[in-house]
Amino acid sequence: MLKGSFELIGDKSISHRAIMLSSISKGKNKISNFLMGEDCLSTVNCFRKMGVDIEINNNEVYVSGKGLRGLKSLEDNLLLDVGNSGTTIRLIMGILAGQNFKSTIVGDESIGKRPMKRVTDPLREMGAIISGKDDANLTPITIEGGNLTNINYHMPVSSAQVKSSLILASLYGNNTSFIREKVRSRNHTEIMLKSFGADIEVNDLDIKVNPVDELFNKDIYVPGDISSAAFIMVGALISENSEVLIKNVGLNNTRVGIIEVIKKMNGSIEIIDEKEICGEKVGNILVKYSPNLIGTTIDKDLIPKLIDEIPIIALLATRAEGDTIIKDASELKVKESNRIKSVVNNLNLIGAKAIELEDGMIIKGKTPLHGGKIQTFNDHRIAMSFSIANLISNNEVILDSDKCIDISFPGYFNLLKKLSK
Ligand code: S3P
Repeated sequence: MLKGSFELIGDKSISHRAIMLSSISKGKNKISNFLMGEDCLSTVNCFRKMGVDIEINNNEVYVSGKGLRGLKSLEDNLLLDVGNSGTTIRLIMGILAGQNFKSTIVGDESIGKRPMKRVTDPLREMGAIISGKDDANLTPITIEGGNLTNINYHMPVSSAQVKSSLILASLYGNNTSFIREKVRSRNHTEIMLKSFGADIEVNDLDIKVNPVDELFNKDIYVPGDISSAAFIMVGALISENSEVLIKNVGLNNTRVGIIEVIKKMNGSIEIIDEKEICGEKVGNILVKYSPNLIGTTIDKDLIPKLIDEIPIIALLATRAEGDTIIKDASELKVKESNRIKSVVNNLNLIGAKAIELEDGMIIKGKTPLHGGKIQTFNDHRIAMSFSIANLISNNEVILDSDKCIDISFPGYFNLLKKLSK
């Protein structure tokens, strides 16, 4: 059983953006509740290498911004290592496309398999010279930027990372850029940029960005990461007598898909004390053990609102009566692992009934879980999802490795231990 209350670690997406946008703005700011996960520290290291003074003190970060055109390279070809972080590489490509120096981006084995053409193509259209493996689809990728034009782009994939990359490049364009999303995705870049003085207008799926001379950073409070809260939320929903209060969770409308799904599945979840901080909705979430869960269908516009939570929602579905169908989610194949395969195979291995689909999966509930040794593929969200399976499994669920959890949730096992009664 999980019992207790806790303050949630900072949101990964917002922490990345806080470093990037503060670095390319004028002024010294403070970022509080910054996520000290490995991914966000990769972003910090990249910007330090471009001459930005970033001080870290506990979970507060002070950034002395260089302004829109103040990033520097001390090398002929600046080497930037993004580690495991898809958000770092895709967003930074948009910024590097606007710089007058040459840079090469490298990352770990998982990053080396993830598609970058989705950013390379539109950035090339804006005038950036980009080369790399498989026509600059895969790392290492070299960018020679500067002198960008504007872009008028209808995105073929639903991706906040691609959208953000193009918005950032548009700051360096020579005219107004128009970007149209396929499905509405997380909008933290738009919110933060606007508060830093960018000329950006959003109308449903349409985004209009005008280049500006300068941005000015402000102090930022990073709300708790709903994608990390998700593991504890599901843990509480499925283990008997649980009741957990998660404080300061980011509740941006583009991120709360998991709350909608839990409600549809008959789970007990309540939002308390909602407020707005730095343009982002924040609130406390109370979750209780829910023995009468029912299956549901998750598809279409809902997918981007919970894309990172699908592995843990799939585990929840094993406790629900009937089928849970997840469709329109082929993006799962190009995450830190192929999350359709890693979820379905591991679920079946521990006793669930899961069927792989081309663009998702079906989970047939309710099934008892007998445990077993699962493969995480070094994917942090797979590792955390299956560690939660331990709360309800007859025998232990053993992870081949759990080090990857530090990517997004440092202190995860300590917290789980503290809540376990
Ligand atoms: C993120 C966007 C999503 C998400 C990722 C973080 C972001 O990726 O899966 O973990 O911070 O913009 P896509 O934009 O590729 O869907």
